[in-house]
Amino acid sequence: MPMLVSTKPTPPPDRVVTQETVRSALAWGATRLRQTPSSTPRLDAELLLSHATDRTRTALLVWPDHALTSDQSAEFSRLIEERASGVPVAYLVGERSFMEFDLAVGPGALVPRPETELLVEWSRRLLSERSGGVVVDVGTGLGTIILALASHLPSGDYAFIGSDPSPDALAWARQNRTSLNSNATVHLVQGDLLTWFGGKATLVTANLPYLRPDQIDGNWELANEPRLALDGGAQGLELIERLVVSMPTKLKRLGALALEIDPSQSKAVVELLQRHLPWLNAEVHQDLAGLDRFVTASPIAENQR
Ligand SMILES: C[S@@+](CC[C@H](N)C(=O)[O-])C[C@H]1O[C@@H](n2cnc3c(N)ncnc32)[C@H](O)[C@@H]1O
Repeated sequence: MPMLVSTKPTPPPDRVVTQETVRSALAWGATRLRQTPSSTPRLDAELLLSHATDRTRTALLVWPDHALTSDQSAEFSRLIEERASGVPVAYLVGERSFMEFDLAVGPGALVPRPETELLVEWSRRLLSERSGGVVVDVGTGLGTIILALASHLPSGDYAFIGSDPSPDALAWARQNRTSLNSNATVHLVQGDLLTWFGGKATLVTANLPYLRPDQIDGNWELANEPRLALDGGAQGLELIERLVVSMPTKLKRLGALALEIDPSQSKAVVELLQRHLPWLNAEVHQDLAGLDRFVTASPIAENQR
C-alpha cells in the first residue's frame, strides 16, 4: 500500500483559513449588538473579540485582516449572543479595569462603574493629608474602593476594612485582594452596614445600593447584576439613611464620610448629613458629565484645602 503523503501545508494554529477576519467579525458582532439596548455595541464587540482571540484591542485594530480560527469564531459568536441576552461584558471577559487595576469580576457582584473612581480620588487625597487610622468601605462588592485605597498608600499606618453582606461579592473581593500591590492589609468582613464595627473610623466610604425599584425593573443593562447591589428601597435611600444615622458612633470626631449617590439624591443626602453630622462640612461633587455623583462630609471644605 503506498504511503499517504499530505501535500497540503499545515497552517499555523491561529491562521486556519476561515471566511472570517477581525474586520468582518467585528462588523457582524457590532451589528448584532446594535439590535440590543447596549449603548456601546462596537466597544462590546471589540472587547469580546479581544477576549476570544487573546489579542489586545489595539492588535485587533492594527491587523483588521487577520483571519480567525474556527474556534475563535465560534467562541466570539457565543460571547456576542450572551451579551445580546444582557450579560455584562465584564462578566464575559472576567475582569473590569478600575483606576490602575484589572479587577476580577463575575456573577454575584456589581461591575465597577467609572464614576466611582472620582470618590476614590477624593478619598485618596483625604488620606494623604492624614497620618493613619481605620478606613472602612461599606458595601465593598469586589473590593473596588477599599483595594484602590489600600494599594495607593505606601504607609502602614492605616487599617483597611471592606464589608458586604454578600458572600458571592466577598469571594470576588478575596480573589482581588490576592493581586493587591501593596504592603497594606485589607480585612474583609461579612455584615450589614456598620452594625459589626465597634471602632471609630477615620474615613468611611460607601457606594451602597441607591436605585429605586422602578429604575431597576426592566432595565436591560442591570438585569444580570445582583438586586442586592442595586436596590436602595422605595426612594433608593434606605441604606444610605441607615448608614448616616449610625455615623456619629462609628466615625472619629474629625473623620470623614464619602457616599456615592444617584444625582437626584444630593439634596436629601446633604440634609441627612447636616442633621446627623452637623460639625462636618457636607459637599456635593459632580461627575465628568456634570451630574451630582457623590457627597462627602469632612472637617475641611474643599475650597479651604
Ligand atoms: C452598588 S454596589 C457597590 C460595589 C462596590 N463598592 C463598587 O463601588 O463597585 C453595592 C454593594 O453594597 C452591598 N450591600 C447591599 N446591602 C448592604 C448592606 N445592608 N450593608 C452593606 N452592604 C450592602 C451589595 O452587596 C453590593 O456589593
